[in-house]
Amino acid sequence: MTQNVTSFPVQSVRDQFPALKRTFHERTVAYFDGPGGSQVVKSAIEAMTAYMERGGANLHGSFPSSWETEDIIADTKALISDFLNVKPAEVAFGANMTTLTLAIARALGRQWGAGDEIVVSEIDHRANVDPWIQMAKDQGMTIRWISVDPNSMTLNLDELQHVINENTKLVAVGLASNAVGTINDVPTIAEKAHEAGAIVAVDAVHGAPHITIDRDQLGADILLCSAYKFFGPHVGIAAIREAVFEKLEVYKLNPAPSFIPDKLETGTQNHEGIGGVKAAIEFFEGFGTGDTRRERLVSGIKQIEEYENSLATRMREGLRSLDKVTLYEADDSYAKTPTFAFTLDGYTPQEVCERMTEEHGIFVADGDFYATTLSSKCGVDQSGGWIRAGLAPYNTKEEVDRFLHALQQF
Ligand SMILES: Cc1ncc(COP(=O)(O)O)c(C=O)c1O
Repeated sequence: MTQNVTSFPVQSVRDQFPALKRTFHERTVAYFDGPGGSQVVKSAIEAMTAYMERGGANLHGSFPSSWETEDIIADTKALISDFLNVKPAEVAFGANMTTLTLAIARALGRQWGAGDEIVVSEIDHRANVDPWIQMAKDQGMTIRWISVDPNSMTLNLDELQHVINENTKLVAVGLASNAVGTINDVPTIAEKAHEAGAIVAVDAVHGAPHITIDRDQLGADILLCSAYKFFGPHVGIAAIREAVFEKLEVYKLNPAPSFIPDKLETGTQNHEGIGGVKAAIEFFEGFGTGDTRRERLVSGIKQIEEYENSLATRMREGLRSLDKVTLYEADDSYAKTPTFAFTLDGYTPQEVCERMTEEHGIFVADGDFYATTLSSKCGVDQSGGWIRAGLAPYNTKEEVDRFLHALQQF
């Protein structure tokens, strides 16, 4: 079923997000800061409090709160396996995406040395760049970059044949830019990487709230995301292809498990948070139809995507019509998340965001959003970066109009 802007149940979605009731200076807050962290769905908040109220425990105990904790973790991994199209045994949790990536990079690096190469991208958030670079430097490896075209806001894929070669061990690329929203052509990059025998690490943190993820269709060997970007709590998720995961020599305590996926999960996990992740993913499933859970997840995410895209069109047209706005985006032939990076003539991004908050109750963020290579190539790094407005399924067309109207006041 195709969802359109009028049939998407936005009011019932909004009812599921308690934070939307918040007011600031007597105005209902409009949240446009989803790419920095979405609001949390009530069912996830309830799952977390329920876990703690019922009595939490550590693993491997012979009592209910312990085996219930193990069940929550297993159930959440099974759900993530349908969410990302991976196996439950390939899923590990961690503090956040960055911490997991640092650990995975250090572990992978133990297999590599001088003469080996890694490839990172200029469009990415540095969380999918610096862990790999630091590992490569430690191992004496060569670092290569896929460059970004600052006019088209897309990666220069015609460079792939020079950048990826028989020495390439790993290619790290983002699914979508958290700054400008471009959805990268990951399958093409992954294909080239695999031809060279390299591992592909995909940062799906920004893509996960907006588009369906299929690990195999992307060609990812390592897939990373973070539940606080998709309506859940602060829990990082790594899905690592079994063959790669088995060989991964993780840094871990001696008595800790050496089997996958547990070997990557150092210390005690955020059990209540993992319960919240399950509820957050079930939020997507709630929109969907289909016989299997994967089908319901895919169809649910599609409903959200179509609704967000309809809002995004309204936002894009509005921003493009404002003389003072410079919008940094790929052209209409590229798929994009509903994320807008722009500047406003005569004001720093911080000034704009402060006034949006104070005068309009609109929460929207400024900065480079750790996409520092992109921001410097776009020439905004010395002037406070961008204003970044992101849409979520709880945003409305009235909020988009309120946002555009607020910008007209500058
Ligand atoms: C695209 C992208 N990658 C990685 C990260 C880092 O994620 P985390 O905060 O879970 O470490 C972010 C956070 O903003 C992001 O937007």
